[in-house]
Amino acid sequence: MATVERVRVALGERSYDVVVGAGILAGLGEALTALGRGRRALVVSDAGVASRYGAPAADSLARAGFATVRATVPAGERSKSLRQAARLYDAAIAGGLDRGAWVVAVGGGVVGDLAGFVAATLFRGVAFCQVPTTLLAQVDASVGGKVAVNHPLGKNLIGAFHQPRLCWGDVATLATLPRRELRCGLAEVIKHGMMADAAYLDEVEAALPRALAGDPAVLARVVAGSVRIKAAVVAGDEREESGARQCLNLGHTVGQALEAVAGYGRLHHGEAVAVGLVAAGEIALRQGTGWAARDQERLVGLLRAAGLPTRMPAGIGREDLLAAMVRDKKTLAGQLRWVLPLRTGAVAVGQLVPEPVVREVLADVGAAA
Ligand code: NAD
Ligand code: GLY
Repeated sequence: MATVERVRVALGERSYDVVVGAGILAGLGEALTALGRGRRALVVSDAGVASRYGAPAADSLARAGFATVRATVPAGERSKSLRQAARLYDAAIAGGLDRGAWVVAVGGGVVGDLAGFVAATLFRGVAFCQVPTTLLAQVDASVGGKVAVNHPLGKNLIGAFHQPRLCWGDVATLATLPRRELRCGLAEVIKHGMMADAAYLDEVEAALPRALAGDPAVLARVVAGSVRIKAAVVAGDEREESGARQCLNLGHTVGQALEAVAGYGRLHHGEAVAVGLVAAGEIALRQGTGWAARDQERLVGLLRAAGLPTRMPAGIGREDLLAAMVRDKKTLAGQLRWVLPLRTGAVAVGQLVPEPVVREVLADVGAAA
């Protein structure tokens, strides 16, 4: 087996390990056993991963002596709903789970967010384990304890902070991930380097062709590097109270507005974030934060090399984007706050940007008048 990397998320009594390796799925039961607690588990996956990875995860738990209940939700963002959460409560209670039980999420960010929300609320909170199977979930969504379902009026509006007790990231699962999803994960990887660690971005740049080709050893290094960055941010501002965690929103102000305006599903989250990163860099250039033209060129080159878009798709209106940004959660007293790059590896949060600059940049990245 290739090297297994272990990253600690240091949160006092809520600390936990993120374990990253190739071919580690079969060891899940043993790893959960080592953490103690009850011997019952609700294993949640979606229809895209249930037989491939949900079943082997449940088998591993059963071999380790766990009584498991399996539940499958439809694949896709629409499953992050109170309706699906209610189905999972039903399965857990009917299956005899108790306060000492585990909820184990096997899948991408949708399954992780939904199952985590159920873990946070079932019996006022039970132990949670993440088994992420998309690159995006391995480098971002499974780490940090943000769990949520969507409300018809917006994404992630109903949720909690509920840290997992273990993240078990098997990069071998990425072999079956559609390439478009792999690229979306790379957008968050590039974001992490751009925001916090220039040396890591160098490593990602060099590793990109092999990561895109699915080399498990390279993917494990890339994932572990990204997790280290996210773990440090989360440890410094678990509940996004000091503002430090907001750096993870680099590229998300424009990215999330673009997702909303394009209509969820047309653009994937990572693709929208890629365009958002370019827009944040363009704003930083105009605001004179220290971000240089060569940093911007490199960013655009990297995103392109990862097969990600760097401009808006056709038909996205500037005014619609602005309206969506203001509706977003990143406004304080009605004012948009931006995360802007200062140089590769450093950002400033809470930045105010004059609206004409935002309009100009949106036009520059391809938004229609
Ligand atoms: P996803 O969970 O919808 O997974 C994408 C698709 O890939 C699904 O169809 C799934 O069935 C399939 N899939 C998953 N693993 C596979 C594999 N190994 N092989 C083949 N197919 C596989 O999407 P995602 O991009 O992982 O997650 C997006 C969600 O994550 C969004 O809801 C977003 O809000 C959330 N998110 C949460 C956080 C957080 O901090 N909690 C951070 C970022 C994103
Ligand atoms: N994905 C943003 C965060 O975890 O804070």
